[in-house]
Amino acid sequence: MTNRARKPYIAGNWKMNLDRAHSLDLVKTVKGRLGDGGDREVGFFVPSIYLADVSAVAQGSPLGVGGQNVWYEDSGACTGELAPRMLREVGADRVLIGHSERRHLFRELDEWMAKKMRAALDVDLLPIYCVGETLDERKGNKTDRVLKKQLESGFERVKVEDAHRITVAYEPVWAIGTGETATTDQADQAHRTIRKWLAGKLGDEAANLIRILYGGSVKPDNAKELMAVESVDGLLVGGASLKAETFLPIIEYDKN
Ligand code: PGA
Repeated sequence: MTNRARKPYIAGNWKMNLDRAHSLDLVKTVKGRLGDGGDREVGFFVPSIYLADVSAVAQGSPLGVGGQNVWYEDSGACTGELAPRMLREVGADRVLIGHSERRHLFRELDEWMAKKMRAALDVDLLPIYCVGETLDERKGNKTDRVLKKQLESGFERVKVEDAHRITVAYEPVWAIGTGETATTDQADQAHRTIRKWLAGKLGDEAANLIRILYGGSVKPDNAKELMAVESVDGLLVGGASLKAETFLPIIEYDKN
């Protein structure tokens, strides 16, 4: 292990994939390989309908289990949505907030993000707050502006003492599911922008507790290179998290 400032975090986002049987198999296999998991954190973000079963299988292991989205109210007339307490009740200890597919395909609004972050933190769900620019925004040199705007909305109600429970994921939209990965320089630059913004918002000490993950076409053959970038504290993995053959080598990026 390198002497990193923060514990590496490898997160798998299943999106709307797998079925119950394959989900449970995958969790059993990964759980079996993790041991005490002391030197890295691993989590799966699971379709909510499988959360209870997946959490039951993951129990007793260091594997974290989370939802892929959450609403910010505790109850009410919100057909199709889930309250933070409901995710907790079925065993989730973490949640993705602001994933680009939620923002773009399902038109989630920036102004919901502060409330979602606050509501998740208030029931002790550990959020991964996702940010990232589209290809047009990158080509128009708007990357920094977009990242800052998304951070401003997500962190509006975050307090300094929440910092240790928060993770940010930088996921350039043009790299998600496309096979195109950001170069290590592009990732590094975005991560530095994010960390600088966090330090301005929360102060250096609190900002230094927040891990910043890279996501977007992470595969076994680029995980090591991405993790070698000092500003990259972990990886958020979509497609390659669906099979043990591709996810395990990413978790063990430093062991081959
Ligand atoms: P991908 O997805 O690894 O399939 O590109 C990443 C994500 O959307 O979190």
